[in-house]
Amino acid sequence: MFITLEGGEGAGKTTQIERIFQYLSQKGHSCVKTREPGHGFIGRQIRALLMLPENETLVPTAELLLFMADRAQHIESFILPEMQKGNVVLCDRFFDSTIVYQGFAGRIGVERVIAFHDVVFSHFRPDLTILFDLSPEVGLARTMCQLDQGERCESESRFEKKMLDFHERIREGFLGLSKLESKRIKVVNAEFSQEEVWSQIKKILDEFLANNPVQ
Ligand code: TMP
Repeated sequence: MFITLEGGEGAGKTTQIERIFQYLSQKGHSCVKTREPGHGFIGRQIRALLMLPENETLVPTAELLLFMADRAQHIESFILPEMQKGNVVLCDRFFDSTIVYQGFAGRIGVERVIAFHDVVFSHFRPDLTILFDLSPEVGLARTMCQLDQGERCESESRFEKKMLDFHERIREGFLGLSKLESKRIKVVNAEFSQEEVWSQIKKILDEFLANNPVQ
């Protein structure tokens, strides 16, 4: 089983992926956590290139191909082998981020991103996606606070530094996607407290597991 977490900046995915991991593990499911971009030795090098603010001249196609390269390495060397072992794979960001950041808010176009993904990754999709929805003002204020407090580093801030209207497009893109794929993508209101966000997620997980038992 493959579960992904998506959303704009500062949505609180990192905190909640840990809770999902604990919750599913307590229920007896063997889980692994991962993220995109940046899994493993090669992924970390690709992430560094993508996130560095000085790389603002990276052209859209090169940016897309770097995210896809990271994903190719990730799917083949980690996600599929873990799923084949029967593990639940929890991933912080995946393909929906590419649709929204590079396709919808960037210059590539949604159809091209989906078509490219489907050719390269044979229509591979998560079984469940939890979308953390919040206003970009709240999300960016949280990430700026993390930068100030040293919980997040400056060398990873290329996307946070984009203008507010870019982040508004991101929110619009994710919400649009969740309407198109309402069976797979479930939305939580991420502006609430961590406890309240968790109770929304738990409900989604319980419902999903009741309908899709893990073998
Ligand atoms: P994060 O790991 O802190 O969420 O940061 C990853 C950044 O990369 C975030 O701004 C979203 C962006 N991103 C894309 O633009 N396209 C993608 O395909 C992925 C996975 C992430």
